[in-house]
Amino acid sequence: MPSGLKNDRLIRALLRQSVDMTPVWIMRQAGRYLPEYRELRKQAGDFMTLCKTPELACKVTLQPVDRFPLDAAILFSDILTIPDAMGLGLSVIETKGPVFERPVRSAEQIKKLGIPDPETDLRYVMDAVRLIRKELDGRVPLIGFSGSPWTLATYMVEGQSSKNFSVIKGMLYDQPAVLHELLDKLADSVALYLNAQIAAGAQTVMIFDTWGGVLTPSSYRKFSLHYMRKIVEQLNREHDGQRVPVILFSKGVGDLVNEIADSGCDAVGLDWMQDITQVRNSVGDKVALQGNLDPAVLYASPEVIRNEVARILEHYGKGSGHVFNLGHGIHPEINPEHVAVLVDAVHELSKPYHGE
Ligand code: CP3
Repeated sequence: MPSGLKNDRLIRALLRQSVDMTPVWIMRQAGRYLPEYRELRKQAGDFMTLCKTPELACKVTLQPVDRFPLDAAILFSDILTIPDAMGLGLSVIETKGPVFERPVRSAEQIKKLGIPDPETDLRYVMDAVRLIRKELDGRVPLIGFSGSPWTLATYMVEGQSSKNFSVIKGMLYDQPAVLHELLDKLADSVALYLNAQIAAGAQTVMIFDTWGGVLTPSSYRKFSLHYMRKIVEQLNREHDGQRVPVILFSKGVGDLVNEIADSGCDAVGLDWMQDITQVRNSVGDKVALQGNLDPAVLYASPEVIRNEVARILEHYGKGSGHVFNLGHGIHPEINPEHVAVLVDAVHELSKPYHGE
């Protein structure tokens, strides 16, 4: 059945089907580096108002897609909507990032947490997905997303962004059963949340495990990858007759990407510390790969940006199965013109790697 998409390069590449050029999108593509984003956030007053007002979330989602020939839109929201819906009281403070009024640190607090019902407790997200699909009108696919249970737990237990994760690591080593109970609830919540995004119109979904890399390999398997695998098993992989690819991204996990590739996902996100040639050689054609330009390359001149894009395309090599992206979110200081250079370079320079 046809997808109704005018540009389905992203979905095709995630499923390792042939494409004419390598698709590209950018983590945090709607954000503070865009003057039109800063303007809308100022009008809204704060970040969470943007997220919780579907019309505004839709406008922000479309900003980068209107400005650049990107191959995907990503829902404008945040990973911390789930803990907020669990009652932890989220605010995103300009100088500090996300802060929870009521972090969870004891077995009693964790026992009391409920699993949010996506269509009621997170209705604003589902309304945003529906509105964005309508406004996109098939121009490009819409990516839905969630945080991984482990990454969500770091914010819920620490109460804010953390440098050494002392509270949650204390819990991991001293009270592993308590942490597992939290992660179990989060895995169920994330699976429901992503399935609701898929039902509302998300055409592919990505799980962000930003803090997977702070764990030892054996803890990573038990406290992060295990729960992502449980989510992948529960996801609806087809909607409206279309495959819905699943992307997993753990930052800073090195060789453990091979185990992520065995999780049942369709694609694995790579940070910029990975060698994409080596990863492709070791995962073979199990999964597609997404990444992995160093976000700091965007500070450099257009000529350097083009050379670095050329290098990654060459390192991935011929054939489909590559989605170009940064290795992590774009920094707020980046000049938007440099993003235009990046997107054009990916499209132009990738053509020789596709076709006969
Ligand atoms: O990619 C996109 O364009 C979609 C939107 C998106 C945001 N956050 C918007 C946002 C996505 C996919 C996220 C995911 C997210 N949020 C992650 C995982 C990915 C990653 O970057 O590691 C994490 C860890 C969070 C939690 C979070 N939200 C942090 C740590 C911060 C502060 C970061 C900062 O740069 O200040 C946020 C706030 C946030 N989420 C902003 C945006 C655009 C900045 C808010 C603002 O406008 O001030």
